[in-house]
Amino acid sequence: MAKISFLFSFLLVVAFGFVNGSPPKDAVGIYELKRGDMSVKFTNWGATIISVVLPDKNGKLGDVALGYDTITDYMNDTTYFGALVGRVANRIGGANFVLNGTEYKLVANEGKNMLHGGPKGFGDVVWKVKKYKNEGHAPFILFGYDSYDGEEGFPGELKVTVGYTLLPKNQLSVTMKAKAVKKDTPVNLIQHTYWNLGNHDSGDILSEEIQLFASRYTPVDSQLIPTGKLLPVKGTPYDFLKPNTIGSRIEELPKGYDINYALDGTPGKLNKVAVVKDKKSGRVMELLANQPGVQFYTGNMIRFVYKAHAALCLETQGFPDSVNHPNFPSQIVTPEKPYKHNMLFRFSIAP
Ligand SMILES: *[C@@H]1O[C@H](CO)[C@@H](O)[C@H](O)[C@H]1NC(C)=O
Ligand SMILES: *[C@@H]1O[C@H](CO)[C@@H](O)[C@H](O)[C@H]1NC(C)=O
Repeated sequence: MAKISFLFSFLLVVAFGFVNGSPPKDAVGIYELKRGDMSVKFTNWGATIISVVLPDKNGKLGDVALGYDTITDYMNDTTYFGALVGRVANRIGGANFVLNGTEYKLVANEGKNMLHGGPKGFGDVVWKVKKYKNEGHAPFILFGYDSYDGEEGFPGELKVTVGYTLLPKNQLSVTMKAKAVKKDTPVNLIQHTYWNLGNHDSGDILSEEIQLFASRYTPVDSQLIPTGKLLPVKGTPYDFLKPNTIGSRIEELPKGYDINYALDGTPGKLNKVAVVKDKKSGRVMELLANQPGVQFYTGNMIRFVYKAHAALCLETQGFPDSVNHPNFPSQIVTPEKPYKHNMLFRFSIAP
């Protein structure tokens, strides 16, 4: 979050006419979870993470998530800062797919393709606050959104929740669930926080080190739609099997990293996804998740408030455009088999 939280709360109260913590139904508010010296702020606009405050190696608190000062900026945002993205995150080629022999035409919002659920995806709607406990042993907040049949072109009603919980030792758990009410539908939810372990306003992340537990990636065409192949990272700038700085080979790519990796872990289990380290602050972020893929993105398109490469995103997910690639793990959710996506962020200080 860019400036002081007080200013943010104040602006929200003025703009929406309610006091932080007890908004009327369907209003937009901000919420905070605190445990020890870790605190995280959210807004129910897009079930968004606004800030993640943690100590550095000297015990100095700092915010490691990019964010805006006003809700107006979130509403105008085109980079999905901190948002919960769906119904199908990432790209769907041609903004259409066939399910059960029926062709579904979606709302395109990136040329002829759909990105991140369409022009009004889950990151651009007001979520309900279903539960909120801001302190204690396991502070948590649960947001809910009921997506209607035909929303952005997708089939069937879908009931979605995302729960954020602060666990001991500076851990943040994210649990995304979705239940198809009557019809089958594709679902691919992501948490789109932009991380900069050196502080949100400390400049670029090119000197931060990353390790990605993925031996293969899904190459894309010129419109960033997967070709359907899975290629080894070995010998490419995508190889982070051993820890390396983000900037080490970024010049070899047109704009920076924006690619989905096929993770090496056991399908469906909570596997190691990535470890990110920032030498200057000493902060370390470890990510675990139960998804087959992770989109590694170096904020190539950031233009507003912050600059390109000011942060990185690790969006665990199914593979992009899975609805059009039968060889990719299926993203179809049925009324009998709900969707569940777990992420666990572990923050620490390098020894
Ligand atoms: C909306 O966002 C764009 C960048 O995406 C920025 O250039 C513009 O100034 C913003 N508008 C307002 C009113 O903040
Ligand atoms: C697809 O077919 C199955 C089984 O016939 C049915 O349960 C489901 O609702 C159908 N999905 C859609 C999106 O029509």
